[in-house]
Amino acid sequence: MLSALDFPCHAPAPLLQKPDIAMPVYHLYFSPCSSTYDTTYAFCRAISQNAAIEVNLTDRETEVPEIPAGSVAVVAAPVYAGRIPTPMADKLARARLEGVKVVTFAVYGGRAYEDALLELNDLCEKAGATVLASAATIAAHVFVPDLERGRPDANDFAEIKDFGRRVCEKYAKGETTPVIVPGNRPYRPAYKAAFVPETDTAMCRKCGVCVAACPTGAIDAQDPSKTDINLCINCMRCAASCASGAKAQPAAAKAFITARLSPLLGGHKPNEFYV
Ligand SMILES: Cc1cc2nc3c(=O)[nH]c(=O)nc-3n(C[C@H](O)[C@H](O)[C@H](O)COP(=O)(O)O)c2cc1C
Ligand code: SF4
Ligand code: SF4
Repeated sequence: MLSALDFPCHAPAPLLQKPDIAMPVYHLYFSPCSSTYDTTYAFCRAISQNAAIEVNLTDRETEVPEIPAGSVAVVAAPVYAGRIPTPMADKLARARLEGVKVVTFAVYGGRAYEDALLELNDLCEKAGATVLASAATIAAHVFVPDLERGRPDANDFAEIKDFGRRVCEKYAKGETTPVIVPGNRPYRPAYKAAFVPETDTAMCRKCGVCVAACPTGAIDAQDPSKTDINLCINCMRCAASCASGAKAQPAAAKAFITARLSPLLGGHKPNEFYV
């Protein structure tokens, strides 16, 4: 019987080379409940074989670092009421990104992204960056997880990978065609908290994890069941980080938002890519 060893291979090696950005990519993200991170981590992997330099701007004390001119940065945020979450917008407004090429992502829960991607691009350009490409992609809605449940899924990740290939081609050619994304100026009003997460005090161990996780410092360090509604952005990172399951959206708020979004249930919004 013949084996593979009987066929010494003289054929040229298959073309394994894929479009790639040789230097490490900066991954600047705000992602309280992880879906934005999951989406754009996959994108970073698609455009560079080097590990990305991760900058988690969800953390209250973390600011955009100095990034050398000529670098590529992926800048990603979820959509809140058709805008970028205020802490992320504030951090980008303080950032210096001269000579940096950015790829922007607005990740949203299947309702609409309205002015968010335009706002993100405006903030990056005001900081001195050039927008190479942009995407508005879908993830399950934090408040109504049945809306776009399971997304991003395998098909979304395949689309994100293909977007990465197109971005690499544009980058390699040195193209600077401006990216035009939907949205209006002036932007819609920024999101204002309509509730604060409630705490089951019987389950709370007062460990302080939610206090440290909160991007805005809204939770009282002495009594984690107390939250300042003027600081809270309803991001739900406190609930996602509480191992005891002691924090949750109040039932009345959940019922209200579910009723408002229920006409959209069963839908499947497409991702949008701008290169
Ligand atoms: C305060 C708040 C406001 C939101 N507003 C919108 C919106 O305007 N449109 C939409 O489609 N999804 C909206 N969503 C859903 C999020 O954009 C979506 O779930 C996103 O994936 C959350 O990102 P994360 O998992 O990285 O935190 C909102 C979520 C929150 C918490
Ligand atoms: S993370 Fe959970 S258990 Fe810990 S203080 Fe916050 S609510 Fe209490
Ligand atoms: S208290 Fe408000 S802002 Fe802070 S983590 Fe919880 S939902 Fe987010």
